[in-house]
Amino acid sequence: EQIEKGGYDHFMLKEIHEQPKAITDTYRGRLLRNEAIIKMAGVEDNMKKFLNANRIIIVACGTSWHAGLVAEYIFEDLARIPVEVEYASEFRYRNPVITENDIVIAISQSGETADTLAAIKLAKSKGAFVFGVCNVVGSSIAREADAGAYTHAGPEIGVASTKAFTTQITILTLIALRLARAKGTISSSDFRHYLLELEMIPGKVEKALQADAHIKMIADIYKDSRNCLYLGRGYNFPVALEGALKLKEISYIHAEGYPAAEMKHGPIALIDENMPIVVIATKKGHYDKVVSNIQEIKARKGKIIAIVTEGDEQVRELADHVIEVPETMEALSPLITTIPLQLLSYHIAVLLGKNVDQPRNLAKSVTVE
Ligand code: G6P
Repeated sequence: EQIEKGGYDHFMLKEIHEQPKAITDTYRGRLLRNEAIIKMAGVEDNMKKFLNANRIIIVACGTSWHAGLVAEYIFEDLARIPVEVEYASEFRYRNPVITENDIVIAISQSGETADTLAAIKLAKSKGAFVFGVCNVVGSSIAREADAGAYTHAGPEIGVASTKAFTTQITILTLIALRLARAKGTISSSDFRHYLLELEMIPGKVEKALQADAHIKMIADIYKDSRNCLYLGRGYNFPVALEGALKLKEISYIHAEGYPAAEMKHGPIALIDENMPIVVIATKKGHYDKVVSNIQEIKARKGKIIAIVTEGDEQVRELADHVIEVPETMEALSPLITTIPLQLLSYHIAVLLGKNVDQPRNLAKSVTVE
């Protein structure tokens, strides 16, 4: 097992560090920058269906559901296709309205999650076209889907999902960009810009990983907290949810993710000098609004851990701690802002002596209801 961990203390840490390579493996052969095209057989072969779709319904569970939420922003923003994101377990029992003009995208690392599998069987029975985004080749969901694309993240052993999440976002971004190009909802120069920036993501993830020692120091300060709040807006709202989930899963500290602006409708009541609040406050995307959310937290003496763009000064003045990440386009920022949140939960769990790779009560793949 030590050999399998490749010199890392835990599979989770190894998998966090594998993300630059995993993301590259996901777009390799699909993103052809010189030719300025994105090529994915599962999408090309069914282009008519995608272009005629009334809407896309995404079904998933857990971390994969969070990747679905990020995809909702990307698909609507770039390809102008309405998207609904559903917990597979709710969708399948709700008598949902599904038509032949709907496309259902099922996202699943393992490809074996019982609720997600049942949801796509239901969707198929109603005539919807089902597209699978799975990591495990030949898995049940991959086989049941009408078409699909693999993430190629490599085996993920740690129960808390890391590289599966960022590679799911990568593939969904490729699909959204491909459809945007086909629909003409993105200009060719913006499209090229995305391709260029996507190719720079692995290097930027690598850079974000270098904050490890600094994040460990922050983890040591907050490891004994009983609660933690995660806030983000826009593309980074789902990242806040995922950050909170990571902390819960492996450190057993109660954490909640919230859209930053919703804070005033509830969570703000929890804020006092004992409450750490992780805020994603990168430069692009509602930056000024997030800064004013941070001011509201500060006025209530909450402890602010802010994820900021390199060189940021405004938030640095307000926050108790800042973690810098490289700048990128807003739509691609979840691929970068997720990294410090993964490391923060990892270090807190290790410092608390928890079983990081196999947290209590959780399973890597939930094959029963
Ligand atoms: C379990 C795992 C999570 C995962 C979820 C969905 O809860 O512990 O890490 O996100 O299942 O799994 P899937 O394989 O469908 O992505």
